[in-house]
Amino acid sequence: MELRHLDGVVALQTLCFPPPFDADLLWKHEHLRRHLELFPEGQFVGVSDGQVVASCSNTLISEIDWHAHRSWDETVGGCFLENFDAEGSTVYGLDVSVHPEFRRRGVAKALYQARFRLVETGYSRYGTACRLPDFIHNHFPTAELYAWAVSRGEVEDRTLTPLLKMGLTMTDVLTNYMEDPESGNAAALLEWRP
Ligand SMILES: CC(C)(COP(=O)(O)OP(=O)(O)OC[C@H]1O[C@@H](n2cnc3c(N)ncnc32)[C@H](O)[C@@H]1OP(=O)(O)O)[C@@H](O)C(=O)NCCC(=O)NCCS
Repeated sequence: MELRHLDGVVALQTLCFPPPFDADLLWKHEHLRRHLELFPEGQFVGVSDGQVVASCSNTLISEIDWHAHRSWDETVGGCFLENFDAEGSTVYGLDVSVHPEFRRRGVAKALYQARFRLVETGYSRYGTACRLPDFIHNHFPTAELYAWAVSRGEVEDRTLTPLLKMGLTMTDVLTNYMEDPESGNAAALLEWRP
């Protein structure tokens, strides 16, 4: 990702995270500019015919913050990544966004390969916490039970299922991870180690 891509990345966010997802949590230009200042090698785009059709943002967090299992805001320090740790051991995934017309063609997988190559340059792991947007459409008593059922392949979730196919391992479920009614405010903790 470079500065010239930012209009495209911002436009893509609205397409990829429609309501009821909180629009205040979508990247704005000033957030992305800060990400590029802090961690340029951790920001990626997919481009087709000059148009940004995919993006993913990453930060670096410390070993302690990775294991603390706290909320999104406490883990990364909000949209400006105030918890960024240049000495951090964990490449922490903040989003992966693929234009609806470019889905199911391996674009997210390509972005994940880029993330994994970055981890292999000397970090301990790739980690992230994944939304569970189809929780609301299923009849599970808790988001935790739902996430484990998805991880066992018993139910498909439009976000967690593809991320598990990237080779990530689900290690926990975080309750009250962020204000996200579709996911019951929960998220699946996912990890990949080189
Ligand atoms: C989730 C998302 C990034 C997937 O992108 P994509 O480019 O379509 O994914 P890929 O084509 O690389 O697919 C990877 C794997 O997931 C599977 N997959 C993709 N979408 C799927 C879905 N909705 N349901 C089930 N499986 C799915 C693919 O079949 C593929 O499996 P395979 O390895 O067995 O072939 C995309 O749907 C998206 O941008 N969603 C909105 C934003 C979002 O929720 N981001 C993630 C949380 S931050």
